Amino acid sequence: MSCRIVVLLSGSGTNLQALIDSLQGTNTNGQIVAALSNRPAAGGLDRAAKAGIATALVDHQLYADRDSFDQALMAQIDSYQPDLVILAGFMRILTPNFVRHYSGRLLNIHPSLLPKHKGLHTHQRALEAGDREHGSTVHFVTEELDGGPLVVQARIPVDAGDTPQSLAERVQQQEHLIFPLAMHWFIQGRLRLIDNQACLDGELIPVGGLRLDDFETDMRVQADA
Ligand code: GRF
Repeated sequence: MSCRIVVLLSGSGTNLQALIDSLQGTNTNGQIVAALSNRPAAGGLDRAAKAGIATALVDHQLYADRDSFDQALMAQIDSYQPDLVILAGFMRILTPNFVRHYSGRLLNIHPSLLPKHKGLHTHQRALEAGDREHGSTVHFVTEELDGGPLVVQARIPVDAGDTPQSLAERVQQQEHLIFPLAMHWFIQGRLRLIDNQACLDGELIPVGGLRLDDFETDMRVQADA
């Protein structure tokens, strides 16, 4: 059975690009059927169009409040009948109603080692906190902002000369590995949310999430598929 995927984004869409690239030339059952943005200028929309993926804009500025925006967004998303909805740099806080509607089929990527540094300006905050490690996390989305069950994390060391910009660049390179990895797990039916807990191959994922380093073989299998 095929897995229909809708990607939501607000920015340049490098994560979307990584997802698209990881599907190409594979015999996967997964297909990105649409990319939706809340911002007209989002570069991710161009990337999707170039890849032959349907695009749509739901501009949050045209809605009176969060509820009406989310209703419109849900209607648009549901018109594509997705099995999985991926938040790839989607910079809007979603209502509980929205999150419940997509429960178990909503994945997000956050640029920190959750539960550290929820919210914005994560690279700056990692530096200010004197963190020796930083990174990114893929997680299922629940009603608590950046608080849903963790799936997989990638870690980078923080160097003495690092700036928010240099951290952002290195973290993004890692995001482009862990997001496709988690997406492929979901497509293959290996990754599921069961009783509000993330499971891989029927086994509970530890609260701190899996580590990318432990899945190099999976990455190779994915590349060969
Ligand atoms: C990513 O770093 C993601 O973690 C954050 O927004 C960024 C999106 O980048 N929430 P892009 O649009 O995928 O290039």
